Amino acid sequence: MKKYVIHGGRPLYGKVEISGAKNAAVGIIPAALLVEGPCRIENIPEISDVDLLLDILKELGGKVRVVNRTTVEVDCSAVRCQSVPYDKGRKLRASYYLLGAMLGRFGAAEVPLPGGCDFGSRPIDQHLKGFAALGANVEVKNGYMCATTEHGRLKGNQIYLDVASVGATMNLMLAAVLAQGTTIIENTAKEPHIVDLANFLNSMGADITGAGTDVIKIRGVEKLRGGEYSIIPDQIEAGTYMAAAGGEVRVCNIIPKHMECITAKLVEMGAEVDEEGDALIVRRHGPLQRTNIKTMFYPGFPTDMHPQIAAVLCLARGTSVITEGVWDNRYRYTEEFRRLGAKIQVDGKIAIIEGVERLTGAPMEACDLRAGAAMIIAGLAAQGTSEISNVKHIERGYEDIIGKLSGIGADIRVVEVPDPEQKRTSAAG
Ligand code: EPU
Repeated sequence: MKKYVIHGGRPLYGKVEISGAKNAAVGIIPAALLVEGPCRIENIPEISDVDLLLDILKELGGKVRVVNRTTVEVDCSAVRCQSVPYDKGRKLRASYYLLGAMLGRFGAAEVPLPGGCDFGSRPIDQHLKGFAALGANVEVKNGYMCATTEHGRLKGNQIYLDVASVGATMNLMLAAVLAQGTTIIENTAKEPHIVDLANFLNSMGADITGAGTDVIKIRGVEKLRGGEYSIIPDQIEAGTYMAAAGGEVRVCNIIPKHMECITAKLVEMGAEVDEEGDALIVRRHGPLQRTNIKTMFYPGFPTDMHPQIAAVLCLARGTSVITEGVWDNRYRYTEEFRRLGAKIQVDGKIAIIEGVERLTGAPMEACDLRAGAAMIIAGLAAQGTSEISNVKHIERGYEDIIGKLSGIGADIRVVEVPDPEQKRTSAAG
C-alpha cells in the first residue's frame, strides 16, 4: 500500500502538462466495442480506471496493443462475449458504458452494477429508462445488469432525460449509434467529454449531431469502421493544478474555453490568469479572497472541482459558501480538512468555510478521487508534514500526480506502507 508524504508551505512554480480527459477516455474505450476494425486512440491518460477498462476489453476477446505511453490500438472485431467479468466491472463507475456499447453491438449484455466514488445515492434510472425506450429489457440479477432485446437490435426512439446526466447521455449515445432508425435525446448533459465521445463515434462513421447542446440526434448506422482519434485534455486535472498553484504555474496542453468556469472563479478570488495558446498561466500574489460557489452542470462550476476549490478557500480571506448542486453527499473531505485546522461547517448541501491564517500538516485519508486531490492541495498549502493514505482513489484519475507536482516544486513523495489487511491475514495464518 502507498501513502503520500507532503512537506507543505512552499509556493509552486513551473510548467505542468495536462493528460487526456479521464471522463472522456472511460466512455471512448468502451465505445471501441462498437467498431469493426482497429481504433487508434491517442492522448489516453495513464490512470488505473483506464487500465481496468482496457483489461476488461482484453478479457472480452478484444485486441489491445500499446503503441506508446499515451496511445493504444484497440480492435474489438472478434469480441463475442457479452458478459463483463464481475470482479473488474464492479470496481469502476464507468463500467456502465459497457452496457450501452454491448447492447448497441450485440442487442444483449451483462454488466456488474457499477462502483466508483461514494457521494451518497448514485441512481442510474435515466440510463435504464433510455435503454427501455430503445427496446431493451434490463433487470438486475445476482449483482449484474442483464439487458436483452427481442430482435437482437435496438430501435431508435425519442428520450427525455429527467436530469441532464453525463452518464445517461453518453450511455444512450453508445446504445443508439447502431440502432435501427433515429434517436433523439432531450435534456442532455453538455460537458466537454460528451462532445468528445460524439466526435470519436462520428470519426468512426456514426451520425450524431447536437452534442454539446441539450438535444442530441443520432441516426443509426449499419456499422462503424476503425480510425484514429485523440482524446481532449482533462478539464478537471487542469483545474486541480490551477487550484494548487500558489506561485506561478503554466498549465499546458489544455482547451482554455473548457476552463472558463474555473478561471472566472479564481480571477474573482484575486488570482491572475493569462491565456497563451493552449496554456493558462496562473499567478497568485498572497492570499486569495473569499467567494461563493454553486456547483452545476457544464458550463457551470464543476462538481468535480468542489473539494479542490474548498481546499483553497480554507486559506482565503473571509467566509465562503459552497453549495453542492449535483451530488447528495460530497462533503466527507471536510472532516479530514479539520485535522489541518480548517474551519468548515456543513449543513446538508451547503458548506461554510471561514478562511484561516494557516493550516498545519496532519494525516488524512482520501475518501474519493477529487477529495484526495483536494487533500494534496491542502497539504501543500499547510505548514509542516501531511500524510495522505488510501491514495488508490487518487491514482484512479490523476496521471503521475507525484511527478507532475514535484516538477513544479512540491515536496511530495510516495512511501510504501504495509497493508493492514495483509498483516492481519498473515498473523491469522
Ligand atoms: N442522476 C439520476 N439518475 C441517473 C443518473 C444520474 O438521478 O440515471 C443524477 C445523479 O444522482 C446526480 C446527477 O444526476 O445527482 C448527475 O449525475 P451524472 O449521471 O451526470 O454523473 P455520472 O455520470 O455518474 C459523471 C462523472 C463524475 C461527475 C459527474 C457529474 C464519470 C465516470 N463520472 O458521473 O465524475 O461527478 O458526471 O459531472 O464520467 C470524477 O471524475 O471524480 C467523477 C466522480
